[in-house]
Amino acid sequence: MKVFRKKSVHQINSEEAPAHEAMHKVLTVRDLTFFGIAAIIGAGSFSSIGSACFSGGPAVIFLFIICAVACGFTAMCYADFATRVPASGSAYTYAYVSFGELAAWIIGWALLMEYSIGNIYVAFSWSGYFVNLIESCGLHIPAWLTNNYSDAHQAFLDGTEGKLSNAWNTAPIIAGLRFIIDLPAIMINILVTWLVYVGTKESRNASNMMVVIKLAIILLVIIVGASYVDIDNWTPFMPNQFSGVMAGVSGVFFAYIGFDAVSTLAEESKDPQRDLPRGMIYSLIICTIVFIILALVLTGMVSYTALNVSDPLAEVFALKGIKWMLFIVSIAAVVAMTSVILVFQMGQPRIWMSMSRDGLLPKKFAEIHPKYKTPAFSTLVTGLVVGIPIFFVTPKFVLDFTSIGTLFAFVLVCGGVLILPRNMNAKEKGKFKMPYVNAKYIVPAITIVSLIIIFAKHASMIVNDDGSFNFPMLVFYLVWVIIAILSFIKNYSLIPVLGLLSCCYLLTGMGWTNWLMFGVWLAIGLVVYFMYGYRKSKLNIQ
Ligand code: ALA
Repeated sequence: MKVFRKKSVHQINSEEAPAHEAMHKVLTVRDLTFFGIAAIIGAGSFSSIGSACFSGGPAVIFLFIICAVACGFTAMCYADFATRVPASGSAYTYAYVSFGELAAWIIGWALLMEYSIGNIYVAFSWSGYFVNLIESCGLHIPAWLTNNYSDAHQAFLDGTEGKLSNAWNTAPIIAGLRFIIDLPAIMINILVTWLVYVGTKESRNASNMMVVIKLAIILLVIIVGASYVDIDNWTPFMPNQFSGVMAGVSGVFFAYIGFDAVSTLAEESKDPQRDLPRGMIYSLIICTIVFIILALVLTGMVSYTALNVSDPLAEVFALKGIKWMLFIVSIAAVVAMTSVILVFQMGQPRIWMSMSRDGLLPKKFAEIHPKYKTPAFSTLVTGLVVGIPIFFVTPKFVLDFTSIGTLFAFVLVCGGVLILPRNMNAKEKGKFKMPYVNAKYIVPAITIVSLIIIFAKHASMIVNDDGSFNFPMLVFYLVWVIIAILSFIKNYSLIPVLGLLSCCYLLTGMGWTNWLMFGVWLAIGLVVYFMYGYRKSKLNIQ
């Protein structure tokens, strides 16, 4: 069937962008590692880490390790693809060679959630810390210019006191509508869009500088915080059992999203086959170490019960009365989130560019600016896709959307590595090659033992606390068994199998509404594909 038509690895590798569409090859392994860190440390590390510490206690570090392992396996799959197919487009391009055109389109469509929709969430969080920062300098912006309309309306309906209802009550009324917008979130989007528009080099320099600042400040937070650690706060270590630890999974997973953005920069890298895998893996290792130490310091400074706030890094210093650190933490948060927005805003146009070159999107999306050498039109459209929803969506809505879309893409990347024929070439010096460990016996053995233990101990794993049936968990167990059988029959490689299973497991944390929204989103994507890409695909004319 036409929708399963594939591009071959050879075909992609031999495709060269015409000279006027070529981008500057300026990025080194250090730049790529910095880009990875720039994309990873952001809203997750400054916000959602708090609720994860609250539900899991100091033992939340296990969750950071579990997510690091899941992301680590996935990163190796990305790295494997990046070595074989060193082209922009990330998971989209990888799906094109492994599953075919329809899956590639679906991935491209899902990645829009990670990059553009994820950026909306980060822009909202950025705005929160930015407002704190300027208020600590004595400046004040009215609440109706720093909050979003939907949340303010909801707060008014619920009768909740605070910033949001204040925004509703004080907003000017224009044509019968209350004028409430998150101006800082809109401004940061415009600023970053402009920066990405004018050049990769400029964006790289800005990003590298921001990474240095944020790492330096996080180091300071750790050093200053460590001197306030009281080891009594680490007891009990796991106050809410393991289920409490796992309850923080979406917040912790969000903190790790971003390492994969490195793979969108293949065409600007000096030596993508050597440097992309390294950039991804180095940034993941550095961030994992930072996260674990940070979680230990936070839960050591104060009781984990005090951490269920949106700005936990500021909260711990406020509770200890160290006012000067509050200011520094706000600066770090603003800088850290700016760099996340920057990297994601660079990633999205590059995916569209690849889709356009394949004929799945109009040609305009692949146009490179004659002077700046960036995908100019795609960059502007990204700015609009991030900027317009800021006027009417809520942070919670976009956060859920981002996680499900990203996990879905990760599952297909790990699955794609399993489908591609194994790379039998000898390892070339300096290039990444996925280590092959045969999963034939290991995965079925792990599956049988784990399922016996799980069902013997917690038969309730497929029943929710309220007695309802946990359908996603049941689907997960089925997928697990199928993958174990396939591993036995097809001698699958262990690393992608573990990546696939761990990402599928994380997907079970998504609620029904998330799945429903995701389903609607995919349905819209399919309509767009059949109306445009299916007919215009370059593979039609070969
Ligand atoms: N990991 C990125 C962040 O935490 C998405 O902001």
